[in-house]
Amino acid sequence: MLSRLLRKNTMQMIKAPARSMSAFVNHRDTPDNLEETPFEFTEESYVQVKSWMSNFPDNYKHSACIPVLFVAQKQNNNFLTLSAMNKVAKVLEMEPMQVYEVASFYTMFNRTRVGKYHIQFCGTTPCMIRGANECMDAIKEYANIGMDEISADGLFSLSEVECLGACVNAPMLQVNNEWVYEDLTPETTVELLKTWKAGGEPHKGPQNGRINSLGPEGRTSLHVISEDLHDRDFAAVKEKYEADKAAAAAAKK
Ligand code: FES
Repeated sequence: MLSRLLRKNTMQMIKAPARSMSAFVNHRDTPDNLEETPFEFTEESYVQVKSWMSNFPDNYKHSACIPVLFVAQKQNNNFLTLSAMNKVAKVLEMEPMQVYEVASFYTMFNRTRVGKYHIQFCGTTPCMIRGANECMDAIKEYANIGMDEISADGLFSLSEVECLGACVNAPMLQVNNEWVYEDLTPETTVELLKTWKAGGEPHKGPQNGRINSLGPEGRTSLHVISEDLHDRDFAAVKEKYEADKAAAAAAKK
């Protein structure tokens, strides 16, 4: 049974057309995505921007580029416009081209408009073997969209991405770069979309009742968790470190 399933899904993978990178990562000049399209960070976003920048020395402001791009994208309904990238360049004192280079490298940055729920479905081998294609087909049918398209009501967009790092709970999808939903079937995938459409918030993580990544036999290792790990008094540890450091310095004199 398992070998038949593997053979069927592996054949599907072999026959699948060659994939290119998601169309959402490409910039297109559209009326809502031009150099003159207004973009300004909100006060709330500025607080986050400054917080990220405070992690780096003044002469390394550009090190905050990726998190600041995320702040811009999130503020703008998950859409990183040209003017948003230019604003990031200005705030971080970078050349706009340097910011475009970063944004265009990662599929997490959407440089064209996406749906309110931007679904990135994992299409790498473990997810494919476990039925990713069927789940993606179910999304396309329910939302009436193709790959890299937005539904007519603006609620859903779909793209296929590479491994999202939860292969043991394959197949899985990620929404808006933030939340993941695992152990999917076509039916549970459509249930997710129905819940979002109804304004609800589905349970995150595995959709089959599994706890985290536990196998069918439940927990088979790490039965005893050391209390010490949880009860460490970090203030006391730091105090001891400082005292030891001072004692070592005094001994050197
Ligand atoms: S292959 Fe899908 S999460 Fe790794």
